[in-house]
Amino acid sequence: MKATATANSNIALVKYWGKRDERLILPQNSSISMTLDGLYTTTTAEFSEKHRKDEVTIDGKKVAGEELDRVVRQLNLVRRLAKTHLSAKVTSKNNFPKAAGLASSASGFAALTLAATKALGLHIEKKELSMLARQGSGSACRSIYGGFAEWVKGSHHDGSDSYAKQLAPKEHWPELAMIVSVVTAEEKKVKSRAGMSQTVANSPMYRAWLETVEEDLKNVREAIMERKFTQLGTAAELNALKMHATMHTTTPHIIYWQPETITMMKEVMQMHEEGIECYFTIDGGPQVKIVCMDKNAGKIAKRVKGMAEVEKVYVCHAGEGARLSNKELF
Ligand code: DP6
Repeated sequence: MKATATANSNIALVKYWGKRDERLILPQNSSISMTLDGLYTTTTAEFSEKHRKDEVTIDGKKVAGEELDRVVRQLNLVRRLAKTHLSAKVTSKNNFPKAAGLASSASGFAALTLAATKALGLHIEKKELSMLARQGSGSACRSIYGGFAEWVKGSHHDGSDSYAKQLAPKEHWPELAMIVSVVTAEEKKVKSRAGMSQTVANSPMYRAWLETVEEDLKNVREAIMERKFTQLGTAAELNALKMHATMHTTTPHIIYWQPETITMMKEVMQMHEEGIECYFTIDGGPQVKIVCMDKNAGKIAKRVKGMAEVEKVYVCHAGEGARLSNKELF
């Protein structure tokens, strides 16, 4: 009745932005991501009669309110499958700052879903696990897989064809690196969930996003499969800017960038101009992630670490999918 799982975060190269069903978490568009080896969440879940109600601790703090409700909803999904009403104790630890745009909800819900299903003795396949994780947080469905994953949007109303699948394992492209820099580790004010919903509702750019995202998917998918770095970086950078353009033009506008974010973007462009080929991508937060080849990663990381704006730098490569662990947190 107790299990522990670890899942790595993932960063989208073609972003998931917009839902067509908010309850089931069904996306408007497919997305593609790289699972990162350096950033992960470990979660222990225990179901027992000794627990009077669900109790959730993340990074040493008991969670309450909306954050607790989201975890309880996910536990309810798993309980329904296992036909049990037992309450759970859940303890989770991130090795990076949560809710600062480093995809903690992706690794968090992937780890929670695997730990909870295992603790209740359910044996489910990755595809099903991905669909369950999706209902906790959309991007979590991609963290079930290592390497490179595509979340296929699907078209069914019940979400039965909306899940992630692996495009390539981590061994496919070990020369590809992603440098994650943290410019401010504060929790963000507008969560991705609210931002995305408002954007779909009223950004005049949202239609252009949907009209061009298939092209981005095709370019990024092909670039991964054929290891074409320039094509990958160019398409990913453009895709991130388009997503932010939809946010900048929603009412009221949402600007996740901090002055430090722009400084970082300019630095990436500068390095590129100097012949160090690299590209940026940014999610629902101020953090800039740099896509580059491993041979340049040390040089780029050193340069980024030297910037006054940067608090922390993680040099990542494609990492493993969600897995069980024997390192119990309680
Ligand atoms: C910008 O998966 O956090 O990181 O499904 O509402 O939980 P919910 O949203 P979430 O959104 C991630 C958005 C993104 C892009 C991406 O990871 O694809």
